[in-house]
Amino acid sequence: MDRSVTEGNDIVIDICDLRKSYRLGDMEVPILHGIDLCVKKGEFVAIMGPSGSGKSTLMNMIGCLDRPTSGKVVLMGKDTCAISDNELAELRGFEIGFVFQSFNLIPRLSAYENVLLPTYSNSKKGHNASQRAKDLLKLVGLDDRMNHRPTELSGGQRQRVAIARSLINEPSLILADEPTGNLDSKTSEEILGIFSELHRNGCTIVMITHDPEMEKYVDRVVHIKDGYIKNN
Ligand SMILES: Nc1ncnc2c1ncn2[C@@H]1O[C@H](COP(=O)(O)OP(=O)(O)O)[C@@H](O)[C@H]1O
Ligand SMILES: [Mg+2]
Repeated sequence: MDRSVTEGNDIVIDICDLRKSYRLGDMEVPILHGIDLCVKKGEFVAIMGPSGSGKSTLMNMIGCLDRPTSGKVVLMGKDTCAISDNELAELRGFEIGFVFQSFNLIPRLSAYENVLLPTYSNSKKGHNASQRAKDLLKLVGLDDRMNHRPTELSGGQRQRVAIARSLINEPSLILADEPTGNLDSKTSEEILGIFSELHRNGCTIVMITHDPEMEKYVDRVVHIKDGYIKNN
């Protein structure tokens, strides 16, 4: 086997000189100024920085939700700038689990249906999806709330559903953008406890936050300010 492939197996995210600008009228406004970041399999990394520092912009690049202006984002050995839109959609849909501050659940669907939803487009992992959705809801402590709709759940319970949904396709990477941003401190602790447990079970997690309390849960904190990473 190609040596570079073998060596690369342990690296989930490899970002090199990533730059992102947004066009505002005639002006290019630079937001990320040459980010380098490497995350290994099984790591739990927090990306921390003040509001407006570019955290979500970086997350969108890692999650293939947006394209960099320049630089390289290699995910699970795949150069995201060099692959087709279809491959990119597969990577985004099946290899990455997303958790957002505002939960992003479908209001009309039950907790169980929300968790199951990402499997509909995944022919490879669909066969025992139903059992898996139930198991994941159990894992996040919602076995007695499976048939409830999001409006019938508390914020913490909604985020538990979103975490279960992020895991349904057995992703290689979980990306969470301020997952406790809308939650009170006790509920936040419970949600972080779930991420901690996932990490202990081998999940690779990148969590964006501006909460310094998070430090105690993670392997490593990456500080971002004004679009620059301060330490790495
Ligand atoms: N789509 C966009 N168009 C123009 N500017 C944007 C866009 N998205 C974010 N920005 C700007 O980029 C900067 C960083 O935003 P963001 O990555 O959301 O920060 P954070 O998540 O750290 O709060 C902000 O100044 C924001 O206004
Ligand atoms: Mg943000």
